[in-house]
Amino acid sequence: MNTQRNATLTVDGKTVELPVYSGSVGPDVIDIRQLYAKTGMFTFDPGFMSTAACKSAITYIDGDAGILLYRGYPIEQLAGECDFLEVAYLILKGELPNPEEKAEFDNVVKRHTMVHEQLIRFYSGFRRDAHPMAVLVGVVGALSAFYHDAMDISDQYHRDISAYRLIAKLPNIVAMAYKYGRGEPFMYPRNDISYTANFMHMMFGNPCEDYEPNPVLVRALDRILILHADHEQNASTSTVRLAGSSGANPFACISSGIACLWGPAHGGANEACLTMLEEIGDVSHVGEYIKRAKDKSDSFKLMGFGHRVYKNFDPRAKLMRETCHEVLNELGLHDDRLFKLAVALEKIALEDDYFVEKKLYPNVDFYSGIVQRALGIPTQLFTGIFALARTVGWIAQWNEMIADPDQKIGRPRQLFNGAEQRDVPPMSKR
Ligand code: CMC
Repeated sequence: MNTQRNATLTVDGKTVELPVYSGSVGPDVIDIRQLYAKTGMFTFDPGFMSTAACKSAITYIDGDAGILLYRGYPIEQLAGECDFLEVAYLILKGELPNPEEKAEFDNVVKRHTMVHEQLIRFYSGFRRDAHPMAVLVGVVGALSAFYHDAMDISDQYHRDISAYRLIAKLPNIVAMAYKYGRGEPFMYPRNDISYTANFMHMMFGNPCEDYEPNPVLVRALDRILILHADHEQNASTSTVRLAGSSGANPFACISSGIACLWGPAHGGANEACLTMLEEIGDVSHVGEYIKRAKDKSDSFKLMGFGHRVYKNFDPRAKLMRETCHEVLNELGLHDDRLFKLAVALEKIALEDDYFVEKKLYPNVDFYSGIVQRALGIPTQLFTGIFALARTVGWIAQWNEMIADPDQKIGRPRQLFNGAEQRDVPPMSKR
């Protein structure tokens, strides 16, 4: 990091110089690590609105320009040219694979798709109606108990094996959560078809008959996975990094990321969005819901709208809208009620002063729910599909952090506004 420039801060008549660093692209940062030592003060930034918590070379977002790059490549090109495992390789290793590297990576992932037979017994501990995210938090965390052979996080080879295991097993674990809820037999993975086709086989196949995944639908699901594979230092990724900063094992860290992703302000938005569309029900009710979204005394938000970083448009939403058209056409669902409703809602919201002023645009989750529903994926599983895809980003970010010589355990401070020191009064005086 280049330290040619300094920022000067004067506080209580005292002036301190703080180094300024530039990344390869994007805003510069002021290094405040010495701030407390020099001034006795902390910075205050709830929600990390102005804080770069780490260095990273994986994903770059320009929220004003609607740009998303994985390792420098625009999301539009990756979604058009690559399959999910190529993108996973890119995110993990920094470069796109050549044909030999791709064949080898596909092969490695395929050879790790099965889960330990004992892991299967974990499922029967859950109620049949358990939310799939509850199952995923538990089962992915439980992987920690199965892979003692590769738990030395200081060893790059061990970290790589853990990454392959997680990427390979997540489709199986998600599909088993679905099958368990339906009371259907778990399906063993097939190694002769693609990663995403195999996921569809484990979801929708059954032992009684052959299942041939529709290539248009496989491509659509693959695109959903690509669009969700990484997204810089969002809440769940930061959770994974914070959990990992203590030296916790990768399976426990990814499980913590899944728990964070579940929330409706984050990955749970796709499920919440579809539930909202069902609740709105008809174009004639859109006005009423837009009014509620703008009402300060009403906690209702238009799910699938708004983003902390994208303030002009979410490039993923544009791609998802295209995919939505492709899937509905393929399935002869051009007149899908919820799709029509979503298009009408988007149009009305985008013309409304409130949404324009606050720069609230549809995000990736606005259309992904409609696509997933058309593919036959139940609403409750939407966030599980997001977790499957984001596992690639989480494990790459975790790996990058562990390899960073500047890495320290995460330990934020606070602005304390509770009681000052006082004495415990005797019970008779309380
Ligand atoms: N509907 C109505 N008003 C909204 C919405 C919305 N969806 N989103 C933000 N606002 C308002 C908000 O009330 C606030 O108003 P005011 O300035 O009067 O207080 C203003 O816009 C700024 O919003 P914020 O909540 O302070 O912004 P944030 O950056 O903290 O939150 C967000 C971003 C995504 C959590 C929020 O926009 C939201 O809750 N959206 C709905 C949930 C959603 O779709 N989440 C998926 C995000 S994309 C997938 C992912 O990456 O996880």
